[in-house]
Amino acid sequence: MIISSLTEAKAILDSNKNLIIPTETVYGIAGNIYDKESIENIYKIKNRPFTNPLIVHIDSIQAMEKVALDIPNAAYELANKFWPGPMTLLLKKRKDVPDLVTANKPTVAVRIPNHQTTNSLLSMLDYPLAAPSANPFGQLSPTSMAHAYRYFGQEIDILDGGKCTLGIESTIIGFDGDQPVVYRLGALTLEEIHNISGLSPKRKESESSDNSSPDASGMMYNHYAPQTRLIFTDDIFTEIEKNRDKKLGLLMSKTIYNDREKSTIIVINNNSNSKLAAQNLYTDLSYMDTLNLDVIIAEKWEEKGLGMSINDRLQKASSNC
Ligand code: TXA
Ligand code: MG
Repeated sequence: MIISSLTEAKAILDSNKNLIIPTETVYGIAGNIYDKESIENIYKIKNRPFTNPLIVHIDSIQAMEKVALDIPNAAYELANKFWPGPMTLLLKKRKDVPDLVTANKPTVAVRIPNHQTTNSLLSMLDYPLAAPSANPFGQLSPTSMAHAYRYFGQEIDILDGGKCTLGIESTIIGFDGDQPVVYRLGALTLEEIHNISGLSPKRKESESSDNSSPDASGMMYNHYAPQTRLIFTDDIFTEIEKNRDKKLGLLMSKTIYNDREKSTIIVINNNSNSKLAAQNLYTDLSYMDTLNLDVIIAEKWEEKGLGMSINDRLQKASSNC
């Protein structure tokens, strides 16, 4: 059922059921972090390995202190600058945070989202909400109510929050002492972190492509993927030529493509607008999935700002990674 009343949303969560909630990044499947059954159900319904931990959504810095300890100064600096917002912090967890939520890791991932409806809901609850993206494991994250409904509308209630304004997941930042380390690049860019907080996070490189227990998500391959085969390339015209006999979907970053003769092609030109492209990325890919294409060819973005985050998602969605 689709709901819009916060009282109803609270009642669903208070009775230990799951609820799909909107955030500024993507929709998430939420449950009370202290209720075993609703957390177990999140993993099951997503078909997500129990080794892949969940993000805990909170409404204040005080709430962060209830789930984490030994919080580095840099974490407070970042939290003060970027919360509410698309940033998740990996912190040492308190003992009473259930191991099921953190997949037995010593850390807990926390964030204050920036969506009016969900922030109001969080402030009405006595507990934080664990909420991974509301998609079956490995598939595209939903950035609209309708997309979430297609995945889970028959099974889980959805709190309507319109279209997600940012469209890709939060940036996940852990700490090496007081040094921030980016585990997953997302809607908050390295440039924004540097320019606004003065901090220069390091990038955590994937140490292995072991999909069973990644250090942080986003380090997994074959993630964020459409059903259609996707080729990710810097040389879009060579790939178009190689696939000229196929039914193609083109997702262009900087190059404008308007070859009218090729009637079987669907083209989305992003005109170098990475903000709009990020907002629409999963909608565009899921739309292309409905068109029975042979292949989607996505053009690489310049490695800066949101372009870096989009490249990360497209690389993981591609079969050539
Ligand atoms: O924007 C977002 O972050 C969205 C919205 C709903 O908040 N959530 C989201 O959740 O993208 P999810 O589960 O799809 O991706 C979060 C990733 C997990 O895959 C997990 O690997 C990583 O965060 N993670 C969570 N807790 C962790 C921990 N304690 N240590 C390392 N990685 C962790
Ligand atoms: Mg996800």
